[in-house]
Amino acid sequence: MTEVPDFLLKRSKDRRAALSGAAPTAEPSASKEVAKTVTSSAAPALAAEVAPPPPPKPDPAYVVAAKSRKKIPFWAMATLSLLPVWAFLYLLAVSPVVREESGPMATGAEVYGACASCHGANGQGGAGRVLHEGEVLKTFPNIEDMLNFVYTGSQPFVAAGLAVYGDADREGGGHAPLSYNGNAMPAQGEKWGGGLTDYEVLGVVCHERYAIGGADPKSEQWASEYATWCSPESEIFAALQAGAVDYDTLAESFAMLEVPPRAVGTEARPSTK
Ligand code: HEC
Repeated sequence: MTEVPDFLLKRSKDRRAALSGAAPTAEPSASKEVAKTVTSSAAPALAAEVAPPPPPKPDPAYVVAAKSRKKIPFWAMATLSLLPVWAFLYLLAVSPVVREESGPMATGAEVYGACASCHGANGQGGAGRVLHEGEVLKTFPNIEDMLNFVYTGSQPFVAAGLAVYGDADREGGGHAPLSYNGNAMPAQGEKWGGGLTDYEVLGVVCHERYAIGGADPKSEQWASEYATWCSPESEIFAALQAGAVDYDTLAESFAMLEVPPRAVGTEARPSTK
């Protein structure tokens, strides 16, 4: 700390050298001479000759250090101060969404997206038949027959030589396969090359009956069917989902239910009465 900085030593040495040039023998009185040349207004010419203007005073080391140190740019400070907020939002975004809804209706709502292109988002029809306003319920008063038809699609009915699918005594007339502009209902079940599992077929059929078709789950007519097949507590849906039963075996496995299910089956067949 008591060390004389280099630049001061150098300055005094320079000064001395300059003075010795002007007055080689005046070395010992150099400081006096300097004082004189700098302060004396009586000899400005000499001062200009003898003492060149002092070099600009260099910054002290600590100022140099402060100036040359890498600093965090001001905009980065703002960004950095937002980091905790960002981290919080990130965690919120990546944590999986807990789906509260599950069961047949939730499954069906999702699966129906694949049917909507032909049947319309609300079952109003299109390339496929009209399903809403009770229409699909007239064709299939029993859910088992609808499950069977959606599983197989139109072609197996044609191949089996069946004149109608669904209720032949349907109000407005029974529906013959390929009678809707000649278009076929594509098979959905695995056995016929469809892309849906058995429980997904049940889910989408529940959606078409209860969300689109007009069946009221609370009504006397539909409450029992809804509870057995389409409610979140449906044991049949759970068993299909677990792979414990399929459309060929569920009638037998659930024969003990209060309202036992009819056979669904995976082959085209006439509707049950
Ligand atoms: C490529 C178009 C197309 C797609 C996709 C389609 N359907 Fe169909 N659907 C039809 C046609 C056409 C008919 C009439 C079949 C016939 O006349 O043989 C039909 C008939 C039906 C019927 C009988 C309606 C009645 O009252 O006669 C139901 C139920 C049905 N489809 C359900 C579904 C479900 C569930 C899906 C989705 C998993 C689906 N459809 C996807 C074209 C389609």
